[in-house]
Parts: sequence; structure tokens; C-alpha cells
Amino acid sequence: MKKNVFVFSRLAPEHLQRLSQNFNVTLLDPGRDIDAQYAAALPEAHGLIGVGRRFGRQQLEQARRLEVLASVSVGYDNYDLAYLDERGILLTNTPDVLTETTADLGFALLLGTARRVAELDAWVKAGNWQGPIGPALFGTDVHGKTLGIVGLGKIGAAVARRGRFGFGMEVIYHGNGRKPELEEELGARYLGLDELLAEADFVCVVVPLSERTRHLIGRRELALMKPSAILVNIARGPVIDEAALIEALQQKRIRAAGLDVYEKEPLASSPLFELDNALTLPHIGSATDETRRAMAERAIDNLERALLGERPRDLVNPQVWARRQPA
Ligand code: DGY
Repeated sequence: MKKNVFVFSRLAPEHLQRLSQNFNVTLLDPGRDIDAQYAAALPEAHGLIGVGRRFGRQQLEQARRLEVLASVSVGYDNYDLAYLDERGILLTNTPDVLTETTADLGFALLLGTARRVAELDAWVKAGNWQGPIGPALFGTDVHGKTLGIVGLGKIGAAVARRGRFGFGMEVIYHGNGRKPELEEELGARYLGLDELLAEADFVCVVVPLSERTRHLIGRRELALMKPSAILVNIARGPVIDEAALIEALQQKRIRAAGLDVYEKEPLASSPLFELDNALTLPHIGSATDETRRAMAERAIDNLERALLGERPRDLVNPQVWARRQPA
């Protein structure tokens, strides 16, 4: 008998068709009562696939048959790992395929804030360009500056490569531990967080969200940054204390911030909207046609393998798989 799969975010028709070959597929319809659809689908589902929904104990308790949750994302802070472990539910993610695309977006935020791209685009379109431009519209250089990476994982390293080899930047980094190979490749220096914040011209935050990294950058840390420095966040919103950041931007205690993520998403209203020195994007780090397709395929692959009894490629909780194997 075919197993049941609940698709809780958009997938392309060809991906749905692929899933339907092996499984009974139910698709969340955003136009109908969302809670009612979850209430009907969760108790039956052997597999869940999608992104952008929080699954805590309360939701997962309804999913008595659940074997695998295949997230179409690299980040997995939306899921209750301890409960998944307790229940023996596999969790998979989509690493690697979004690394370069997310790093591109990080660099877009870096360049966009430094050269005030969105702000001046709006200025031109408002009909303000009626004479020579002066220092009031000047930006700041990116090339040759010091790039501080907080979290030199795969995406952090990809941002650092762009800075080092594309823009001749000096790379400094902070993270869980030193990365000698990357230090050699990038000529990067490891620093404590406080030292990095004090030295960097651009601080790019690329750490996963966890209890250890929640509000990693708060009022105290922002105060350590140079007034000329720019902060970029392509990780998760709660890694930065957003209220403290808004205050720092309002008071121009740092030059600017380029943000793709927020404490609460979607961001429908915010004091950030009033600020010329905040560049705000709608969590699009991995959102290109090519990469979203690759992520969907990777997630489907993981889901199929799990439900067909093979080891998925991207297991977030390999201990759950190990426990399933005969001794
Ligand atoms: C990811 O893959 O984690 C992206 O941020 C989308 O959530």
C-alpha cells in the first residue's frame, strides 16, 4: 500500500508528479482553512515535505504515523529536534545546493548597503535627480576592506571567498572553532567575537539559530562595531536583537544593515521601513529558480529514500536512523 505524504509548501507540478508515483500525495491549499487541513492530514501522514512551518511537539503529536519530515531548507530551527528524536522521526534538510546562491545574496546585501543601491534607486525614480550629485549620496568602498564572518561554515566560507578573491578583502572570522584549511585558503584570521566586531568594516552573520546563538548580536555587541561598519544577516532573524539593531540604525551608531531575515517573518510592518540605512529583503537567500528546484529535488530524494527504507542523504538526526537498524 502506498504511504501518505503531506506537502505543506509549494512544489512544482513535475515534483508533485514524481511524488505521486510512489505515494498518496495531499497538498496544502493556502486558499482554504489551513488549520483544518493540517488537522486532517497530520494523523495520516507518513511523510511531510515543505518549508516555512514550525513543527513543535504539539503539531507532531497529531502525526502518529510520521516517519520522516523532509525540510526544503538547510536551516532546521523550525523543528523540535528532541521530540523528533524521542519519536524516532527522521529529519532531513537540503545542504550544499544553496550554498553559492545564499552567498551571492549575502554579497548583494553587502554591496547594496555600501553603495546604497536600493535607496538611490528609489531616489532616482522619485524624480530627485535634477542636478549633479554630491557627498550626501556617496557610499563606502567594499574592495580592500575587512570582512568579518560570524560562522565560517559552508555559506560563510562562500561569502568569504567572494570577499577575498573578488574584492581583495581581508577576512577575519569567529565561530565554534578554528578552520585551518580555510585560514590557509582565504588568509583568514580567527578572532573572538568582540575583537571581530571591533575590527570588521563588514560583519556578515551566517550562524545557525540555536539557544546558543539567539541574540548573539545584541546592544552590547552592536556598540562594539565601528560607526562606519555595516552588518549583514543572512542567517536567522533571532540571531540579532532586532530592537537593539533598529535603535543602533536610528541613532546611526553603525552605518547600515542589510537584512534577509527577521525575528518575526513575514515582516509586514517595522520601524526598519522608515530607515534609509536598512536594506530589507524578504528571506530570499536561496530563492532563485535553479536553487529552489535543486532544493526541492534534494528534499524529495531524501523523503523517498526514507519512506522506501533507504538511508536518506541529508539526515539531521542520524542517531534516529542508526536506532532503526537491526543490531
Ligand atoms: C534555508 O534553507 O534555511 C533558507 O533560509 C530557507 O529557509
